[in-house]
Amino acid sequence: MISIKVPATSANMGPGFDCLGVALDLYNSYEIEETASGVEITGCEECYSNETNLIYTSMKKCFEVLNYQPKGLKININSSIPISRGLGSSAACIVGGVAAANELAGGKLTKAQLLEIANAIEGHPDNVAPALLGGMIIAVQDKGKVYHENVKLADNLRFCAIIPDFTLSTTEARAVLPNKLTYRDAIFNISRATLLVTALANGSYDLIRHACEDALHQPYRSKLIPGYVEIMQKSKELDCLGIFLSGAGPTIMAIIKNNDQRFTTDMQRFLDTLECKWTVKELCIDHQGTIITKACK
Ligand code: HSE
Repeated sequence: MISIKVPATSANMGPGFDCLGVALDLYNSYEIEETASGVEITGCEECYSNETNLIYTSMKKCFEVLNYQPKGLKININSSIPISRGLGSSAACIVGGVAAANELAGGKLTKAQLLEIANAIEGHPDNVAPALLGGMIIAVQDKGKVYHENVKLADNLRFCAIIPDFTLSTTEARAVLPNKLTYRDAIFNISRATLLVTALANGSYDLIRHACEDALHQPYRSKLIPGYVEIMQKSKELDCLGIFLSGAGPTIMAIIKNNDQRFTTDMQRFLDTLECKWTVKELCIDHQGTIITKACK
């Protein structure tokens, strides 16, 4: 039996639409084994306990690449990453499935190949790359290949996930984006994305807030998220280093210094006055990415 642990991820990080993401210390774990026949999926809602399950379909894609046919499969899911909240729950299923399938079939594929398969399934690399590799990753896809680089983050940062009790599907959140952009908006984002990466790596805290701004997706998606404007405003009042929509949302992510004793409690007090229920969760960067352990039979 294989045990596999995959971190949550926060993609886009403001201006890095479809190319920046960071792995965080909130995990899904899966126990997977090859059986004599059939498919058994446990530990999830009934609607996911069948052959449309994303872990299972991702495993199948990887088995196809490897030309390997398992007789049967048993998958047990233990998930802490909330679904459809912009914290990479789909990427965790895809990466977990692909990495587990490779391991069951003999572990022939490299991490680069696993990333390419996972990226082909997800369609963009900003969640799957950090989920597989850990840390903050810049990832660029081109003709099926993924080119990536790790950003060495200053180590005294913490991420505060401000998570609502409602969901937002990535499909819905991508559907509201415009088909065309102006040069002005393109420059707005290129300049901030490059500034953000450098400011985070160098620990230039006073630049992070401006560098996190975005013109490509947040202005459109924010309308789908009740409380967005108020939370962004409050985060700035509470002096966070930066604030952005996590992935496609609806989670909002604040960056704070790890000695900031105030942000989380003051923010939670504020959230409790809003109509929808929101919870703040402090997270640290995960540097390991996906980890596989093989248990004895
Ligand atoms: N970059 C993706 C998006 C992340 O914003 O749509 C969510 O899958």
